[in-house]
Amino acid sequence: MNKLIVGNWKMNGSLAGNESLVRTMLDGLAAAPAPAPHADLALCAPAVYLAQLQGLLKASPIAWGAQDVSAHEQGAYTGEVAAGMLKDFACRYAIVGHSERRQYHGETDDTVATKAQRALAAGVTPIVCVGETLTQRETGQTESVVKRQLAAVIHTVGHCITEIVVAYEPVWAIGTGKTATPEMAQEVHAVLRAQLAAASTHAKRVHILYGGSMNGANAASLLAQPDIDGGLIGGASLKAVDFLQIAAAAR
Ligand code: PGA
Repeated sequence: MNKLIVGNWKMNGSLAGNESLVRTMLDGLAAAPAPAPHADLALCAPAVYLAQLQGLLKASPIAWGAQDVSAHEQGAYTGEVAAGMLKDFACRYAIVGHSERRQYHGETDDTVATKAQRALAAGVTPIVCVGETLTQRETGQTESVVKRQLAAVIHTVGHCITEIVVAYEPVWAIGTGKTATPEMAQEVHAVLRAQLAAASTHAKRVHILYGGSMNGANAASLLAQPDIDGGLIGGASLKAVDFLQIAAAAR
């Protein structure tokens, strides 16, 4: 299975800036001896830029996606973007349950699970984020927190569980420059893999990404872990060189 390297631009970008970033990435890929041989790539942009990404990336090896999706199918939900709309713009992915959404927008495990289900129903692959806070890690709750977060999604999407992507993002490692060591990350990934395996015999097919200050320097050792199948990249996805370095580290 190829590694999956997904950029999460968060609330960054502009029409001009995105175009130059994406063109530099595509030029870098074209110039590489064997373009991204072991990695599938994707970029998740703010919703308003999805049409732009579709135009820039449609004939390229990079897929695109959204950073959130509505828990509702359609209707009177001002400001929301439905999964079907993402599909209209050929999004392959939608991040759901990012810790910034859980933290600043009060998203619960149930909301995240419903969003994952909406995405799947529309043919968009949800990238379901789980992860513990620093306090939770320090009080020995890491395993129970990530298991609870994933259980809600497994329970809701049922047999479709092999169609999701999981991202383990320790909250204390996001945007802080503090990365989980490869061993720390692997330990949690193994827990998540076992949980998926209890729900499906095809759990090995599910990509479990690591996210949290992944960069060109630490990507190779993280991606070498047996249960780390890729990365969800925030800050480093805003720089073409860094993003491509991570992609090149995938083996
Ligand atoms: P970071 O963000 O790479 O900037 O730590 C990762 C994420 O939040 O998805």
